[in-house]
Amino acid sequence: MKILLIGSGGREHAFAWKITQSTHCEELYIAPGNAGTSTLGENVSIEVNDFEKLGSFCLKKAINLVVVGPEEPLVRGIRDYFEASDELKDILLVGPGRLGAQLEGSKDFSKQFMARHGIPTAAYQSFTKETLEEGLSYIRQQTLPIVLKADGLAAGKGVLICNDFDEACAEFEEMLLKGKFGTASQKVVIEEFLTGIELSVFVALDGSDYVILPEAKDYKRIGDNDSGPNTGGMGAVSPVPFADEAFMQKVRDNVVLPTLLGLRKDNIPYQGFIFIGLMNKAGDPYVIEYNVRMGDPETQAVLPRIKSDFVELLSSIATSTLCQYTLGINPFTAATVVMVAGGYPDAYEKGKHIQGLEESSQTESWVFHAGTSTDESGVVLTNGGRVLGITGKGEEMQDAISNAYARVNQIQWDGVYYRKDIGQDILQVIK
Ligand code: AMP
Ligand code: GLY
Repeated sequence: MKILLIGSGGREHAFAWKITQSTHCEELYIAPGNAGTSTLGENVSIEVNDFEKLGSFCLKKAINLVVVGPEEPLVRGIRDYFEASDELKDILLVGPGRLGAQLEGSKDFSKQFMARHGIPTAAYQSFTKETLEEGLSYIRQQTLPIVLKADGLAAGKGVLICNDFDEACAEFEEMLLKGKFGTASQKVVIEEFLTGIELSVFVALDGSDYVILPEAKDYKRIGDNDSGPNTGGMGAVSPVPFADEAFMQKVRDNVVLPTLLGLRKDNIPYQGFIFIGLMNKAGDPYVIEYNVRMGDPETQAVLPRIKSDFVELLSSIATSTLCQYTLGINPFTAATVVMVAGGYPDAYEKGKHIQGLEESSQTESWVFHAGTSTDESGVVLTNGGRVLGITGKGEEMQDAISNAYARVNQIQWDGVYYRKDIGQDILQVIK
């Protein structure tokens, strides 16, 4: 198959790595890709939302399968664009259409979806500028802390957890009246705070069948012991010990199946990944959010654990043949440590020379690139906030973590930062 992968993050490098291991992969192109993906396929300099150029490229190269990594092109309707064109409509595509992508593109849409289909989630209400006063009094009737969410896509920054009413009301007004998150906060969801441990569950859907992939736990805050601001994700581990058979049965029965049936009842076709952010609240799963793609950096911990052919999984999603696909899982654990540019998630510098990337004797790990580029002489430079994701594997979680950090310690650039405690909470639980 000739495959076009859309995106440029660590998730896409992991996808490219897994795709090129398949005998079904004839040619791989990545738009726009990063320094890591350029070693596996051909990077194509087309932005992820430039549907016209992506479409023309597919025709020029006779692409058979398009795999969409990030949410934005999905929310903007890349599938709808391909389906509306006589020339493009027969190209297989992994990722939902605009309607299904609303599960991530609009928090209000996803909360209504969950309410309609009896899927456990935090109590909520949505408000706009027109209902500002009702919103302010709703906030003061709730218990603290309280969660405010911009309705639209806000690059992972649109969620605020407030510990006092005055702060919550001020933030609420800033979101609705001053466009704190631009058009994304024209509508605001006010939500009950859920207490528990988070878990990321990944489901491949083909419109009628589904396969649950290995779960992961993400580390969202910038600092050790979950301190400081939220980021795109500073690390991940898979598997997650509390996601045992009994818990996962509840996830299947109370969340995954009702989600699938809900999509069907609402006539929302869905061929792609769905990433369900869950809270384990006293042993029961509650949905925090849906994402219409795989997680980053969770993918870098999840994909190495998948044993079966990944291109077969992708094409089964796109051809609605998941019922014939058997997922094989490697029996090891994986831990991913994300190395970021100093200053991230606020302002940071780019263009730093990354040292220590050459082949290492540390073979129990993989280096996945995210924000990287290559200069004219082939030197790899930092080119983003999250720069690399290092995944270690091991029979036990402790080994996976040690192997990841052993490789992290060989890599260096000016200003590099990473969390030192990825997986430590899990080790405490399994002790
Ligand atoms: P989201 O963008 O919806 O994933 O939210 C970002 C992060 O905020 C989540 O991963 C949680 O850590 C936290 N969060 C969101 N909603 C809630 C909630 N209702 N209760 C507790 N934490 C939440
Ligand atoms: N790691 C969280 C996300 O991909 O949204």
